Amino acid sequence: MKPDAAAARAADLRAEIDQHNYRYYVLDDPSVPDAEYDRLLRELEAIEAEYPDLATPDSPTQRVGATPSAGFDEVTHSIPMLSLANAFDEKEVRDFDRRAREGLEVGTVHYAAEPKLDGVAIALSYRDGALVRAATRGDGARGEDVTANVRTIRAIPLKLRGDGWPAELEVRGEIYMPLAGFQAFNEKAAEAGAKTLVNPRNAAAGSLRQLDPAMTAERPLAFYAYSTAGRTGLPGSHYEILERLRDWGFPVNPESRRVDGADGLLAYHADLLKKRPDLAYDIDGVVYKVDDLDEQDTLGFVSRAPRWALAHKFPAQEEITKLLAIDVQVGRTGAITPVARLEPVFVGGVTVTNATLHNEDEIRRKDARAGDYVVVRRAGDVIPEVARVLVERREGDLPEFQMPTECPVCGSAVERQEGEAVARCTGGLVCRAQLRQAIQHFASRRAMDIEGLGEKLIAQLVESEMVTTVADLYRLDAEQLSGLERMGEKSATNLVEQLKRSKTPELGRLLFALGIREVGEVTANQLALHFGELGALREADVEALEEVSDVGPIVAAHVRAFFDEPHNLKVIDDLLAEGVEWQAPEKIEGETPLAGQTWVLTGSLGVPRMKAKGWLESLGARVSGSVSGKTDVVLAGEAAGSKLAKAEKLGVKVMDEESFREMLAGYGIGTE
Ligand code: IVH
Repeated sequence: MKPDAAAARAADLRAEIDQHNYRYYVLDDPSVPDAEYDRLLRELEAIEAEYPDLATPDSPTQRVGATPSAGFDEVTHSIPMLSLANAFDEKEVRDFDRRAREGLEVGTVHYAAEPKLDGVAIALSYRDGALVRAATRGDGARGEDVTANVRTIRAIPLKLRGDGWPAELEVRGEIYMPLAGFQAFNEKAAEAGAKTLVNPRNAAAGSLRQLDPAMTAERPLAFYAYSTAGRTGLPGSHYEILERLRDWGFPVNPESRRVDGADGLLAYHADLLKKRPDLAYDIDGVVYKVDDLDEQDTLGFVSRAPRWALAHKFPAQEEITKLLAIDVQVGRTGAITPVARLEPVFVGGVTVTNATLHNEDEIRRKDARAGDYVVVRRAGDVIPEVARVLVERREGDLPEFQMPTECPVCGSAVERQEGEAVARCTGGLVCRAQLRQAIQHFASRRAMDIEGLGEKLIAQLVESEMVTTVADLYRLDAEQLSGLERMGEKSATNLVEQLKRSKTPELGRLLFALGIREVGEVTANQLALHFGELGALREADVEALEEVSDVGPIVAAHVRAFFDEPHNLKVIDDLLAEGVEWQAPEKIEGETPLAGQTWVLTGSLGVPRMKAKGWLESLGARVSGSVSGKTDVVLAGEAAGSKLAKAEKLGVKVMDEESFREMLAGYGIGTE
């Protein structure tokens, strides 16, 4: 490229990249995909490599320019960086407004209100529109020169846009780490075995203090401008200054508003508190500022905080309290969750007495013990959790947490499978914590198929203790039932009829209905086929169970644990005593004529697919979901589609339903 053409292209690229930055960071309206942005940047880099004179300090390629430094130079702030007075409740806000009204001798004060970001304050100096220095707040009077690091933050303009900016301009604001970036960074760091960041605020602070700007460039930092130092050449209202800063290329928080009087301030606070869980960044409150700069001057300062501004904090989301005990709770699926019982503590606006500890491993990892001091966190609407344990505050020896071996609700054994984080109660049929779910599953269409036994009715039956196990269902009579809410005589009689009708399930259905963990419909049918009767299955050890096709060590262990639990056996015996008679599966003695064959079912068949599959499996075939060269037969029902086409293409044998029925009849099965 000729020098003139290179200079012109470089100027175009720079303008285009700056525009994309502005769209992305200031307008929050990205105009191109990241890949396109990177392509433009690389093209500019290539040109500047050829013509180094073109690489001016304000070029977007020059964000990571400096080499690592030994430390940071001290910077004296020409106008001190002050702090804010805090308010925690309505009264303090009304007092603030009253003092402002009195000081200004006005009836209503006009304010600007904005989120208070939890990050690091920064002062950015621009000379003739170019960023020349960035300094931290430090002690307010003197901070550190972190220019090289700040230049790597793309949200901060190296060069101002538009016009009308004063030749000397100092913009102040907050550098922060958005939550998504924080999480992504930590996930990557954890994967790489590197150190993770503690929280977004520390992350932002730590990132700015990196000696190597290339390290800062790796951190997903962002920026919002919230004020200027001095007012020369600027509008006379804070809110208008923010608007001007936005025009000049600074990101300004889109939640900033103008509001009137104490009521306006409080409404803004309430609104932001509601929005807090949905924001892309952490905020710890809101900031109110008297909007008129002359009025600000009139009010002046007390010690190091302005009388014209106030930080109205949100309730803290983390507090320290004492862990009194670790109990366990049994969930609807039998999952046993440890719960922290806490000395009551006010967190995130509510009093918290319980918090989740997730599971046993989590307790070990955090080393939580009854008697410890812990940090409780309540973020947004989520359930409070024990975030950390202050092990250093532990007094003396405290016993480690032990997972109970018996369910606290029903006394059944607690099992925890290898590789699983969750411990579970094995008393699925008797445990009151799980009863509703167990009955619902038991009655469902593919299990015992008891029509008319809906969720609300189940709730009533359990609540009133008319039903304490699924066996009790068969003891219900129409009279008892019609006494329940929304239960007419007719529906009561119908339900009793349905219950009676459900008493002769195939063995597979009954096994499925029992709700043994990991035993779905298919596995239940396999178990039924393999053992042929309930007694043998009840006695089978893990090795015998693993012989069943589809049953691996985990399922075998669950089945064994289920039948080892005397409570469960009692329910099964009760079911049988109430007249439930399972039907033996259809099985061909000794012979498995289709052994070694792979079948695929497609299209709609005249019988449920599960049934056809069961028949085929009883004949020794394997039933697969997809057609391949290894498929022996494709059974094609009505409207068979792509699988049939594929079979034809591969030359796989295709059978229609009629021939299939004939084949089954030949083996003496398939009569339903
Ligand atoms: S104004 C004199 N506005 O809060 C006014 N500060 O205690 C000075 N902060 O470290 C600050 N968001 O970095 C202002 N919208 C906002 C803010 C904000 C966060 C931080 C600021 C400082 C602290 C003040």
